[in-house]
Amino acid sequence: MNDLLMVHGGMPLHGEIRVRGAKNLVSKAMVASLLGESVSRLYDVPAIRDVEVVRGLLELHGVRVSEGTDGELVFDPSNVERANVDELNVHAGSSRIPILFCGPLLHRLGHAFIPDLGGCRIGDRPIDFHLSALREFGAIEEKTPEGLHLTAPGGLHGTKFELPYPSVGATEQVLLTAVRAEGVTELRNAAVEPEIIDLICVLQKMGAIISVHTDRVIRIEGVPHLGGYTHRPLPDRLEVASWACAALATHGDVSVRGARQVDMMTFLNVFRSVGGAFEVDDSPNAGIRFWHPGGELSTVALETDVHPGLMTDWQQPLVVALTQAQGLSIVHETVYEQRFGFTDALVKMGATIQLYRECLGATPCRFGQRNFLHSAVISGPSKLHGTELEIPDLRGGFSHFIAALAAEGSSRLHGVDLINRGYEDFEAKLDALGARFERI
Ligand code: EPU
Repeated sequence: MNDLLMVHGGMPLHGEIRVRGAKNLVSKAMVASLLGESVSRLYDVPAIRDVEVVRGLLELHGVRVSEGTDGELVFDPSNVERANVDELNVHAGSSRIPILFCGPLLHRLGHAFIPDLGGCRIGDRPIDFHLSALREFGAIEEKTPEGLHLTAPGGLHGTKFELPYPSVGATEQVLLTAVRAEGVTELRNAAVEPEIIDLICVLQKMGAIISVHTDRVIRIEGVPHLGGYTHRPLPDRLEVASWACAALATHGDVSVRGARQVDMMTFLNVFRSVGGAFEVDDSPNAGIRFWHPGGELSTVALETDVHPGLMTDWQQPLVVALTQAQGLSIVHETVYEQRFGFTDALVKMGATIQLYRECLGATPCRFGQRNFLHSAVISGPSKLHGTELEIPDLRGGFSHFIAALAAEGSSRLHGVDLINRGYEDFEAKLDALGARFERI
């Protein structure tokens, strides 16, 4: 299929769409199924490429995966086996999830091979925290040109470990390893994003004993056996925010079915401060309606942070909306060191955005002294005009879409298939919201 989309901007988005289970929980819950001795069932799984990649990896390890109706996936892990390195390498570079197979494979097979990782290029994205945690549990790693080989000759044992930074992935690594390690694990400075809490719910359903304490401490009592789970994931709050910002930037009105207020509270505060309007529907067909109420949008000063702060993945779509606010907005990115690359394209479209190496926010962050362009000043409102765009990464790419929809004239977007990594049926959703676009 052609990877190029022509988007005709200037039309407000109007209508209703539905989001499914969160990409950043679903993929981890799929990995967790490897730990069980019986069948697991996950509902509301979005048809996105990250899910296909994890499914492929599970199948290569002998997990039988079947599909039910309406996004149900069933995992049968009764015949987990060592996978062929060459076959696994087909998935090299396609996602960051494979690193989370370490603990489950070490428990099941005593050995793990992890192909080289992929994921969005939004910073260095090292795996040092993952590897130090695995070593603490008793794993030994060997890096080869093909990827990473791990063994645990003395078995995996509970440990006390403090993360240098509350990394989402490293916290998941510890959870997925500690649940079946011998003894107790205490993780300090853990990430507590809603997706992590939902993963803990999945593991608890399987038989794990995990308690979350104040001050980012998670305690896990290892158990020798885990069963399967049946789980309906939390909705994709990253996708919800993307559509909310698209509604705001295009002067539109979009109802997002499946969205939940409790997952979105920090975002909703910012959305309201900028001048956006929203209405929460708590009925069984729940959702949130987002719209531009007319008048000028207001500027804000924002800092991204770990939960319960403003998510880094909400930053890019918000920046597009802020190009339409009256005056100067400041955004300080404290989670990833290179998450403003996507703004070059916005500037090409007519936005006024200046990037800074300094921390332009109250919190000095890890990147302040290290020469990274990680603060942005956005001056608006700017009339955006259509142009030629190359999708750089998942969230930045969706933000280019939003800009193209808000702009006057047409834009040609190259590399749009990258959006399928994390946004289910995004073209059908754009269609449902009245956007004008075509594949060329
Ligand atoms: N970090 C290290 N060493 C490590 C691990 C992380 O230095 O071993 C650093 C990272 O470089 C980054 C920071 O810690 O500066 C936070 O990274 P984290 O580990 O929290 O991120 P992640 O687990 O790789 C997940 C999501 C991201 C989301 C972040 C933050 C998945 C698959 N990805 O990434 O989502 O931005 O948490 O919430 O869950 C996306 O969906 O587009 C996406 C990028």
